Amino acid sequence: MIQPTRKKELNYYILTMGCQMNVYDSEVLAGHLENMEYSSTEEQEKADVFVINTCAVRKKAEEKVHSRLGKLKILKKEKPEMLMVLWGCMVQQGGTARKMAERFPFLDIIGGPHSLGRFPELLEKAPFSSRTIIDIEPEGEREGLPVKRGEGVSAWVPISHGCDNYCTYCIVPYVRGPEKSRLPGEIIKEITELAREGYREITLLGQNVNSYGKDLEEDIGFAQLLEVLDETGRLQRIRFMTSQPRDFSTNMVEVIAAGEKICEHFHLPLQAGSNKILQKMNRGYTKEKYLQLVHTIRKLIPECSITTDIIVGFPGETEDDFQESIEVLQQVRFDAAFTFVYSPRSGTKAAEMEDQVSLEEKKRRIVTINKVQNNISLEENLKLLGYQQEILVEGKSKTDQNIYTGRTRTNKIVHFSTEEDLTGRLVNLEIVEAKPWTLTGKLLDNNISF
Ligand code: 5AD
Ligand code: SF4
Repeated sequence: MIQPTRKKELNYYILTMGCQMNVYDSEVLAGHLENMEYSSTEEQEKADVFVINTCAVRKKAEEKVHSRLGKLKILKKEKPEMLMVLWGCMVQQGGTARKMAERFPFLDIIGGPHSLGRFPELLEKAPFSSRTIIDIEPEGEREGLPVKRGEGVSAWVPISHGCDNYCTYCIVPYVRGPEKSRLPGEIIKEITELAREGYREITLLGQNVNSYGKDLEEDIGFAQLLEVLDETGRLQRIRFMTSQPRDFSTNMVEVIAAGEKICEHFHLPLQAGSNKILQKMNRGYTKEKYLQLVHTIRKLIPECSITTDIIVGFPGETEDDFQESIEVLQQVRFDAAFTFVYSPRSGTKAAEMEDQVSLEEKKRRIVTINKVQNNISLEENLKLLGYQQEILVEGKSKTDQNIYTGRTRTNKIVHFSTEEDLTGRLVNLEIVEAKPWTLTGKLLDNNISF
């Protein structure tokens, strides 16, 4: 009797670097793989398809890719049928894909962010190709692709792709192309579906959400989009990132203030506190304009939180310029700041500027600024002690099974203990402990909502 052959189960493993947009792109890659009957695995060695979804924003991210590929070479030798995929922003930079294919010839596929729609074709061709298949075309369809979202209560939803602000330090416009807004109808349809599937929170993604719609024929901007989404079905919370302060209108702040589901968290990258540096960065605002925006936001939404990104050691940044960044930090008192050492990116204007700051000096500045901000973050969090906060519970803590984690509307992470699985629920907690990056809460009785 002929025994039926059992189909081998095929697995995939995706390593994602970079920003939330890249996390979303990995969800699309996973969507394709699931459609092709692959299953996700946590164990790299068990993968039949191994993807590294790369970032190009700083050199450090690229160095990590090189060292990872060095290790993967060994894995590929042991398991030659494993398909190795190098994806994302890093390989979209001029000349990088070829160089990577030469240096790591065991790579089966190299693809950029615009090639997402073509991933299944590339994957099908790969086993029959003796060379690395490269697809770094500057365009590609992004609508209607499958998405395998990570487990949880919140989902990422891009509202635009690409960027054309051309901040002089930034590689993104070169790798992700000019800004293209998604049609409002597509966004609303996707979010309505997500709410029906049980997602409680969505985060609208774009390199510059505030310029949403400028490239569309339809007369719609970010404020109107938010207004419509606030009315959408069973969602509990709407978040958005990232904002470009230059394009943040008072009307947008008013809509956020009036919105019921739109969370009171503003991630407003300052980048630098000195007008000279802001101009060299091509940010399109001055320190005074930025402070005015913060003032408007706090006037209309006093309970909000504001976080930021800062780059230290941009070309030409003197000690005085650096001190101006510190002064703005102290003036605004951000809830948190993500700080970065300036990393020259080939092809950008800033990489060509003279007066580059030494690495030693950049390191000194980042240590100094982090110390200042950590104190501010802690002091701001301590102000919440004894107060009640509404948390959307995201799930169990990775390190402690009895501890659950969630976020306040202002995007602060809160840990608390409970015996009941409250994932996906909105609960009220009293804040009992504060650290610079996290809070601890105590569950209050009889106030759990669905
Ligand atoms: N060097 C250092 N930091 C950078 N960022 C973007 N480009 C660079 C660069 N070349 C930072 C900015 C941005 C964040 C996502 O990364 O602060 O807001
Ligand atoms: Fe995201 Fe920019 Fe990195 Fe690409 S280069 S992954 S857009 S941060």
